[in-house]
Amino acid sequence: MLKLTVNGASHEVDVADDTPLLWVLRDTLGMTGTKYGCGMALCGACTVHIDGAATRACVTPASAVAGKSITTIEGLSPDRSHPVQKAWIEFDVPQCGYCQSGQIMSAAALLAKTPAPTDGDIDTAMAGNLCRCGTYVRIRKAIHRAAELTAGKEG
Ligand code: FES
Ligand code: FES
Repeated sequence: MLKLTVNGASHEVDVADDTPLLWVLRDTLGMTGTKYGCGMALCGACTVHIDGAATRACVTPASAVAGKSITTIEGLSPDRSHPVQKAWIEFDVPQCGYCQSGQIMSAAALLAKTPAPTDGDIDTAMAGNLCRCGTYVRIRKAIHRAAELTAGKEG
């Protein structure tokens, strides 16, 4: 049994130690917002936060995150009120949507560390999150907007 803390709630899960966190989230806990893309840390679709850091759940053994704080897209806010979510909605960022929970989690981790990122900061932080629909321009705009919202500039 592993004890995991996901979105502030404690869960005991009966999985092998080397089970990737992604499958524990999706299959054991039923949190399907975190997506499977490549399974090899190459696409970013599975990005969650571990103690606040953007982390690829597909290559993270569940046993490695026992006792740590795990946040998924479901836990970013209860009502889509996180600045990144608001900015994503304002700019209609998603196209097919598949990559977007990973994009949002990477963006939120970036802004938590770097509240006013430059284009370069954004490109570096988001480089591992691929989007087959090519929404990169809107993603960058939305991250700048989320930074404004976080700073209290609503206009
Ligand atoms: S599914 Fe984890 S990085 Fe692609
Ligand atoms: S919105 Fe389709 S893959 Fe990114």
